[in-house]
Amino acid sequence: MPSERTLVLVKPDGVQRGLIGPIITRLEQTGLKIIGLKIVQITDEMAAEHYAEHSERPFYAGLVGFITSGPVVAMAVSGPNAVAHVRRLMGATNPQDAAPGTIRGDLATDIGRNVVHGSANVEDGERELPIFFDESEIISYHRANGPWIIEP
Ligand code: RTP
Ligand code: MG
Repeated sequence: MPSERTLVLVKPDGVQRGLIGPIITRLEQTGLKIIGLKIVQITDEMAAEHYAEHSERPFYAGLVGFITSGPVVAMAVSGPNAVAHVRRLMGATNPQDAAPGTIRGDLATDIGRNVVHGSANVEDGERELPIFFDESEIISYHRANGPWIIEP
């Protein structure tokens, strides 16, 4: 399976609600590897770049207002098929449709307050990561228990 990188955000609602730890724990416990991590106050410019695909949508102004309303925790995450893996762990965009056991299914209730972001595909991940991380802030490292997580 190809190793991929993806951008994960604990959105401002997740930070305010004290869900940084629980969300990181859910990702970490699967064996996905955190290779970048920081708290960030997103600017209007960063939000416009990050959500460019939604610029014509009716919810765009609210989306930008929300994502810039307080700090987020940004993570670069790697692992086999990491993009799709993270999206499965997050659950459906609308928490009302998100399965129990997923982050949104267990921790959220409103589509506009869905606590977490994950890149939609590999191309989006590689486009979004530089908005939040300098390449020097993304760390490549081996874990001593690596072969117990991913069959060599
Ligand atoms: P995200 O980008 O946050 O990981 O979420 P996503 O891929 O599952 O959803 P996306 O379609 O990219 O939408 C981005 C965020 O916009 C809000 N949204 N509101 N009111 C609406 O119809 C609506 N649709 C989307 C959600 O907060 C979603 O996470
Ligand atoms: Mg999206």
